[in-house]
Amino acid sequence: MSAEPAPAAAGGGESPNVPVHLRPAREADVPALAQLLLRLKRLNEEFDPLLKVRPDAEARAVEVLRRDLADPKALVLAAEGIGPDKDKVVGVVRAHLRERVFYVPEVEGVILDIYLLPLYRRKGVGEHLLRETAEALRAKGAGLVTAEFPAHNEIATRFYAKRGYRPITLVQGRRL
Ligand SMILES: CC(C)(COP(=O)(O)OP(=O)(O)OC[C@H]1O[C@@H](n2cnc3c(N)ncnc32)[C@H](O)[C@@H]1OP(=O)(O)O)[C@@H](O)C(=O)NCCC(=O)NCCS
Repeated sequence: MSAEPAPAAAGGGESPNVPVHLRPAREADVPALAQLLLRLKRLNEEFDPLLKVRPDAEARAVEVLRRDLADPKALVLAAEGIGPDKDKVVGVVRAHLRERVFYVPEVEGVILDIYLLPLYRRKGVGEHLLRETAEALRAKGAGLVTAEFPAHNEIATRFYAKRGYRPITLVQGRRL
């Protein structure tokens, strides 16, 4: 409910006043982060029947998060609320470094998942997450940042377009 401003951030990639505290995720966050990933996948399901969520998706989310936390080529950030929501994980970002065998820049940081609980949306938090994620990926060696999301997710398209992201490759598919 409360949306008190965060302390002003100093230096670097300027943070606006956003009602979250962003930090690297840790093992203890895994159950909460898995729930957020699951919410995102269920949202994705609404965009396309080929994104139907598996019955074991929750267990897989836990596995994937644990694997990523141990992988230096992965990035998992947790957004905590502030004030009364302090210690509550309200958002997640998950990204991987991927080698581009034929192209330069040679290393791409791929944002695989970005999700905020609905109460935290439209307050500039997403842009803050995106900026900090891009910086963290750059620090890990990425020369390019990309994002994967359902083709029909118009909000995501607008969200990324506003930050200068544009389509590079398209993935098309049909059921067999
Ligand atoms: C995508 C998401 C992380 C954006 O976070 P957010 O904090 O709501 O976004 P911001 O407040 O920083 O908004 C940034 C811009 O994104 C676009 N945007 C965000 N939400 C929007 C909405 N509901 N309708 C239209 N545009 C929207 C706008 O261009 C907005 O700029 P504006 O406020 O000046 O119009 C958040 O909406 C979310 O978690 N959505 C559900 C999960 C999802 O779709 N993830 C992306 C695909 S993996």
